[in-house]
Amino acid sequence: MDANALKKAAAEAALAYVEDDTIVGVGTGSTVNFFIDALASRRARITATVASSEASAKRLRDLRIPVRELNDTDGCEVYVDGADEVTEHLAMVKGGGGALTREKIVAQASRKFVCIADASKLVGVLGRFPLPVEVIPMARSFVARELVKVGGMPELRQGVATDNGNLILDVRGLTILDPVELETRINQIPGVVTNGLFARRPADVLLLATPEGVKTYKRPR
Ligand code: 5RP
Repeated sequence: MDANALKKAAAEAALAYVEDDTIVGVGTGSTVNFFIDALASRRARITATVASSEASAKRLRDLRIPVRELNDTDGCEVYVDGADEVTEHLAMVKGGGGALTREKIVAQASRKFVCIADASKLVGVLGRFPLPVEVIPMARSFVARELVKVGGMPELRQGVATDNGNLILDVRGLTILDPVELETRINQIPGVVTNGLFARRPADVLLLATPEGVKTYKRPR
């Protein structure tokens, strides 16, 4: 099975977590695009969606799926999003698509987070994928020097401005043994808007598509 077939399988499995008459949080990326396409068949049964990026909002609207601002809701029943890396404990690195800040907000504002991914995203230790950090533009150099002190090698993502008008530093060379501690530490650097570690609020469910089928991992409560 190629990567797209696996992404589609994980995305379609997530429909089982979408309840009628609820607000659905929708992430960003190629795996989520398959979820959006599948969600079109449910457009009349859900109340609305909240999108984590302008790109996802556009794809949803193009498919005539209703989109609301997060401010106009009381949060989402479920949030469905992909990951760049995920562990069996359901901590993730996200932000490869640059949407990490809105993703973290919508995830936090949702009662259940369902991560959809193909098997290549499962890792024992986070950090092989460069950790995205969204920064306020005037703080770029300062934040980069602070990230070196944390042990990383930050590199400016060229030609990218986030939906919030900020920049992304991609940090290589981190072996993330304690993702909650590192997420908290990087958040303390003035000028950092968000970092791509999703460990303080991990996923509740991981739907991991493998050639043998979609495996479900649940976070212990
Ligand atoms: C975007 C994200 C995506 O969820 C992550 O990059 C995975 O994307 P894809 O499904 O295309 O592999 O965090 O900011």
